[in-house]
Amino acid sequence: MDTDAANTLFKPSRDLQSNLAHQEQKSLLRFLTCGSVDDGKSTLIGRLLYDTKLIFEDQLAALETDSRKHGTTGDDIDFALLVDGLEAEREQGITIDVAYRFFATAKRKFIVADTPGHEQYTRNMATGASTADLAIVLVDARSGILRQTRRHTFIASLLGISQIVLAINKIDLVDYDQAVFDRIAAEYLDFAKDLDFAAISPIPVSARYGDNVTAHSHNIPWYGGPALLDHLENVPVGQTEAERPFRFPVQYVNRPNLDFRGFSGTIASGRVAPGDHVVVAKSGKSSRVARIVTHGGDRETAVAGDAVTIVLEDEIEVSRGNMLVSPGARPDVADQFAADIVWFDDQPLLPGRTYILRTETDQTSASITSLKYRININSFAHEAVKSLGLNEIGSCNISTQQPIAFDAYADNRSTGAFILIDRISNRTVGAGLIRHALRRAANVHLQALDIDKAARAEMKHQKPVVLWFTGLSGSGKSTVANLLEKKLHFQGRHTYILDGDNVRHGLNRDLGFTEEDRVENIRRVAETAKLMVDAGLIVLVSFISPFRAERRMAREMMGEGEFVEIFIDTPFEECAGRDPKGLYAKAARGEIKNFTGVDSPYEQPENADIHLRTLENQPEDLVDEIEAWLNDRGIA
Ligand code: ADX
Repeated sequence: MDTDAANTLFKPSRDLQSNLAHQEQKSLLRFLTCGSVDDGKSTLIGRLLYDTKLIFEDQLAALETDSRKHGTTGDDIDFALLVDGLEAEREQGITIDVAYRFFATAKRKFIVADTPGHEQYTRNMATGASTADLAIVLVDARSGILRQTRRHTFIASLLGISQIVLAINKIDLVDYDQAVFDRIAAEYLDFAKDLDFAAISPIPVSARYGDNVTAHSHNIPWYGGPALLDHLENVPVGQTEAERPFRFPVQYVNRPNLDFRGFSGTIASGRVAPGDHVVVAKSGKSSRVARIVTHGGDRETAVAGDAVTIVLEDEIEVSRGNMLVSPGARPDVADQFAADIVWFDDQPLLPGRTYILRTETDQTSASITSLKYRININSFAHEAVKSLGLNEIGSCNISTQQPIAFDAYADNRSTGAFILIDRISNRTVGAGLIRHALRRAANVHLQALDIDKAARAEMKHQKPVVLWFTGLSGSGKSTVANLLEKKLHFQGRHTYILDGDNVRHGLNRDLGFTEEDRVENIRRVAETAKLMVDAGLIVLVSFISPFRAERRMAREMMGEGEFVEIFIDTPFEECAGRDPKGLYAKAARGEIKNFTGVDSPYEQPENADIHLRTLENQPEDLVDEIEAWLNDRGIA
């Protein structure tokens, strides 16, 4: 094996693009390592790089989702944004915490996604895998195939990796025994046979001693195949991103002065040349490419991976976050689609909860409208579940607040992927791969009605509003809501109370008190309250509604000023002492599970519009307080 040291002596991050250009004639293989903890991922990569005597920068790029850069360069074209393809990839927001190392041999260039960290491994792995062509799945020869091996293999197939190297490591520790190797390889091949890999290549290695890493090992005469590096240099790389339809996510509108307006970003797929017709994915507006501007001057053509600034012939509206695409092969634009999800968070995925969904180009709220199944990682069986836990993989339908532009992941790995972010903690909690748009959404149009909310409210001489009471069971929500409704009613207001206990006897009788059922409970009630507001009513909602996320969702569903959160603040001990329905006593005896405040959480409002303490006040006084608040704002 020859190394091409001269070409690899560079400081990667800034100069990466130009060095890649020098090595243009060579093919590029992107790969990653995965497997169980302690199977030797880092040792193997270290050994590979050390033995090939390649100089590499320790951290080519430590990628973080949240560090998004905005171009601010006054009067000059912002070339900084054109320089580094990998950096641009990071800024587009769907890569997380993965360091990429670059190296090259005489035959080929390599980018290896280094996905450190034991805890968040699945998350990092999914990120690294979404651009890789090949995965090295490591197993410890002593322990064989483990749950993690299966999980990572499955994720690799889900993410479209076509080539697997099964590196059966620590072969020295089993005395270079062929029988061990054969047994593990056979078990793996059997397990992975339906996963659509183009090839699975088992190689016996010892990362520690270098057996079969860069050169064939004398310790393993019974193995006739190539050493790992040899295999990596020769494995065929599939269809490149350049052959797919043109997709250019606009990262930045580059407008240094009145004479120049270009759109900067990295070409996600396809190629482009001046004169090409392009359309804006969401608006459908079209134009032609006038110039392709780069660091080194104008280009005659540019391909996937190139960071460029595109100037169009016409002044059409293309905002940051939009996508220029080829008119003949457009992406889907929809607000409902089917997707596979890999879940990373300790807090489970809950259908009905809203998350932030982020793609290369879009960011919007989204919720899982139905969780179809979870994949059993051992048998690949589809299992019916109500939520997804840490590291689980499932299939679902998703609905977004705004339409997004996307491709199926199978057609385009960059425009077909997204991440989900928790709205309260801001953590990245899952990764998704889009399967297809749901057409049913496209065929249901909102019916325009002549009598609207304003007209209905006008007739009732009132401002429709939701008064959302939240607090522990027995805190006094219903008592206060009931008193308030009576007063409003006698003042001639049109009101309705949605009360937890009552609604759970009808509309929500199928729901219990698990986290996922409570989320669905509140989602339905919020939707109902919204209809009632539309009907012009003053709606009093009295539900424990223990989670901030769902209360926030309810607020966002209503119009400005139409949602008033009222926190009925009664300490747990007081509620348990009052125990009007004897439920706290039952919960204490363990006869009721998931009881709020006992073994199910209550997340107190941080900024309730009205905060009422029941210990110090009589219900009548609290009602007066609410009325005063509403009067001040001209609501009731
Ligand atoms: S929520 O959490 O989903 O908002 P909701 O307000 O609908 O709860 O229902 C709460 C009422 O159900 C309580 O007032 C109580 O009477 C009854 N209940 C029965 N089991 C539970 C439980 N495990 N936790 C809380 N409330 C319960």
